[in-house]
Amino acid sequence: MTKAEERRVAVVIVAAGRGERAGVADGPKQYRLVGGKPVISRSIGAFLRHPAIGQIVAVIHPDDHALFAEAVKTLASKVTVVDGGATRQDSVRLGLQALRETAPAKVLIHDAARPFVDISLIDRTIEAIGERQAALPAVAVSDTLKRGGSDGIVSETVSRSGLFAAQTPQGFPFWPIHAAHLKAHHAGKMDFTDDAAIAEWTGIPVKLVEGSPDNIKLTWARDIEMAHQRLSAEQASTLRFPDVRTGNGYDVHCFEEGDYVWLCGVKISHTKKLSGHSDADVGLHALTDALLATRGAGDIGTHFPPSDPQWKGARSRIFVEHAVSLVRAAGGRIANADITLICEAPRIGPHREAMTAAISEMLSIDPGRVSVKATTNERLGFIGREEGIAAIATATVIYPGEVSA
Ligand code: CTP
Ligand code: MG
Repeated sequence: MTKAEERRVAVVIVAAGRGERAGVADGPKQYRLVGGKPVISRSIGAFLRHPAIGQIVAVIHPDDHALFAEAVKTLASKVTVVDGGATRQDSVRLGLQALRETAPAKVLIHDAARPFVDISLIDRTIEAIGERQAALPAVAVSDTLKRGGSDGIVSETVSRSGLFAAQTPQGFPFWPIHAAHLKAHHAGKMDFTDDAAIAEWTGIPVKLVEGSPDNIKLTWARDIEMAHQRLSAEQASTLRFPDVRTGNGYDVHCFEEGDYVWLCGVKISHTKKLSGHSDADVGLHALTDALLATRGAGDIGTHFPPSDPQWKGARSRIFVEHAVSLVRAAGGRIANADITLICEAPRIGPHREAMTAAISEMLSIDPGRVSVKATTNERLGFIGREEGIAAIATATVIYPGEVSA
């Protein structure tokens, strides 16, 4: 099909019913809101978004013009509106008549009461329409079928083999279905419940295409309620912005005389030691700052002032655990922590696993969520001259609640 030919697919959306079975107290079902939008604007919207659809005719009840204008607002300008008739069959015929002038090659006929029609179902249906072939989306019946007698007793079990539940949009070559509808009208045959039945009646073969279980017709009040709940749940999950926060930290300590260093919670023999008020574990200090940053809770000096003698020689895991307790008090879950140690020596590789284990224990998270890396400073600067060690850390914490848009 060329682009111009593709565009020659029109849609008739029938919406002139009263929705008696869904209850009329809140107005006709096709104008009720599901997930914040009128049913009919969802049904029309699905076709408006489809690139092959060139024209849309909405067949509505003569009393519903104001409701329709309100429901479809901006969409309305692209849609031709026609008054419907007393039965669905009448409404379809009137919709088809409105297309005679433009005479599209193919026409889809769709119930406004099916708002869950999706693009691929529309594609499949259009694809299966032939010059003298109709297309019917349908789903195989899966329940066991019984015939009930008027006495309320089952008279037989009906084989479901080869049985399908018909859906819309149903697709047709335009002129043949137009003629079939006119023929039925003139013959006074007004009991067809769908358009494929009219095609069958006039000998147009109807090809089955795969329907969609989601493409339900809203018939009863409970269908509308369920549609609403489903869309609200979908919206709730798609419109959430989880409160994910990332913090970073940086620290440096210089060397002094000694024979070990504490790095990332592990004591390592070395030719020097790091100087500091506490055990000078530069990796854990950077990590503490990263965690505090996710709360906007200042830095390590705010919580553990170097001037306070009680932190003299303290193990730095106390600082990390304090930051973790603040995170947890706010309901936070630590997603990961990443620390880079920057030094020429000692070599970190042999201790990496022990460091990862120590940190995962301090944070109470899986070791797979902890990363400890090391790099030299290419002999540059104070680190290159082995005057000290630096560390940078990043932590990501997920807090309860959402980030407002
Ligand atoms: N329809 C129509 N013209 C009619 C009757 C029905 O255009 N005279 C449309 C409905 O608006 C609906 C579709 O045909 O989109 C399928 O019909 P149905 O689900 O039966 O809707 P209603 O007829 O409105 O509902 P009820 O039968 O419960 O009154
Ligand atoms: Mg009806």
